[in-house]
Amino acid sequence: MRKKIVCGNWKMNTTKKEAVKLTSDIEGGLKDIDIEVVVCPPFVYLEVVKNALSKVNPTLSEKCGVKLGAQNCFFEENGAFTGEISPTQLAEFCSYVILGHSERRQFLKETDEDISKKVKGALNAGLFPIVCLGETKEEKAEGRRDEVIKRQVSQAIEGLPKEEASNLVLAYEPVWAIGTGEVCDVSLAASAIKIIRGIIDKHFGFAQNISVLYGGSVSSSDVEEFAREKEVDGALVGAKSLDAEEFIKIVKTFK
Ligand code: PGA
Repeated sequence: MRKKIVCGNWKMNTTKKEAVKLTSDIEGGLKDIDIEVVVCPPFVYLEVVKNALSKVNPTLSEKCGVKLGAQNCFFEENGAFTGEISPTQLAEFCSYVILGHSERRQFLKETDEDISKKVKGALNAGLFPIVCLGETKEEKAEGRRDEVIKRQVSQAIEGLPKEEASNLVLAYEPVWAIGTGEVCDVSLAASAIKIIRGIIDKHFGFAQNISVLYGGSVSSSDVEEFAREKEVDGALVGAKSLDAEEFIKIVKTFK
């Protein structure tokens, strides 16, 4: 279902103590917010963050919409896959899972095919996948943005039943904008998101029901324009999600 979502991707950051403090600070600052807020700590802190969320006030997490997400999952349900974590295991803790992040595509050599299998596994387990898409600096320079996005979306949704696809969330994250401080022009982000919606529409006929976020060097100082753009349903925030005050400001901009 289409809704406003702001998701914090903590990546490989925080100690256990910092994760708990960050969680309480974020939740404490978002008491009256009714948009979906998701925090994605490292796997090893999912349980403490989950406990910290409900500790602030057992009813608060529901009211302010702070949900828990993971940063990745494997595609099989269980078995001999050393070091991997299954979507079914995650579903005991999380509502969301980030899939296909460019850092995983780049450093862990994840392919479109891997991501497609992970999307199916996550949906089967009842998780909402946040699927990341976006072109690299080279692909942008070669004028291949649209082609890259089209390929990534089409592969991610390949073979998905229509009923399950409505639980997808997509995030346009130009790789050149991630962690660089170089924010994408809002009109460029909007045109990329239109392409994404176009493909979803062609396959399933309901692109207007799906949330598409923007990610890449999002901060409170430049997020306002994104919040005003009707194609953008929220943000996937990296570095600035580690700063509770910044993250809260970003969330409130989408209110
Ligand atoms: P950034 O990361 O906000 O630090 O650029 C965004 C992301 O990787 O999702």
